[in-house]
Amino acid sequence: MKKEIKKRDKMPRLNAVINHELYQKYYERIRSCETDRIFCCHQMNHLLDVARIAYIKNLEEGLGYEKELIYTAAVLHDIGKSFQYREQIPHEIAGEKVARRILDSLPEEVNFTDEEKELICLAVKGHRRRHEGMQQIEELFYESDKRSRMCLSCAAEKKCNWDKEEKNMEITI
Ligand SMILES: [Fe+2]
Repeated sequence: MKKEIKKRDKMPRLNAVINHELYQKYYERIRSCETDRIFCCHQMNHLLDVARIAYIKNLEEGLGYEKELIYTAAVLHDIGKSFQYREQIPHEIAGEKVARRILDSLPEEVNFTDEEKELICLAVKGHRRRHEGMQQIEELFYESDKRSRMCLSCAAEKKCNWDKEEKNMEITI
């Protein structure tokens, strides 16, 4: 029997984050820093690639994270990138601070719980590198972030200093 396909899920908390003035400010800074960048960029198409990969992995592996939490962590995960470009501050460190400020100043009707905020901030802070004692949400975002890059069709692949083994030269998720 044909199953009805759901049209869409609204995600008001995610959209409140994207429309937050701090988010807009730091997103715009990333955009302007990346105007002439030939390597991977950190704008909305990348952020949503990470969101979708993370959500697929979440479903396939039965991790049980809520969809809006995954999408919110994904749109925030690189929000500190301009600090790295401009001041050499690691983007996951700067990003966690910005994420926390945004999450702590959302209007009540679109607020995340404290537990959700902690998970989102952990994803932002822990997504960049493998490290000792890595938690599940950090691993989910580390893997999704790395797998989102399409090295196989990238014009700058030869000039990119990513490890050869790390580059996505075939399609995998
Ligand atoms: Fe990323």
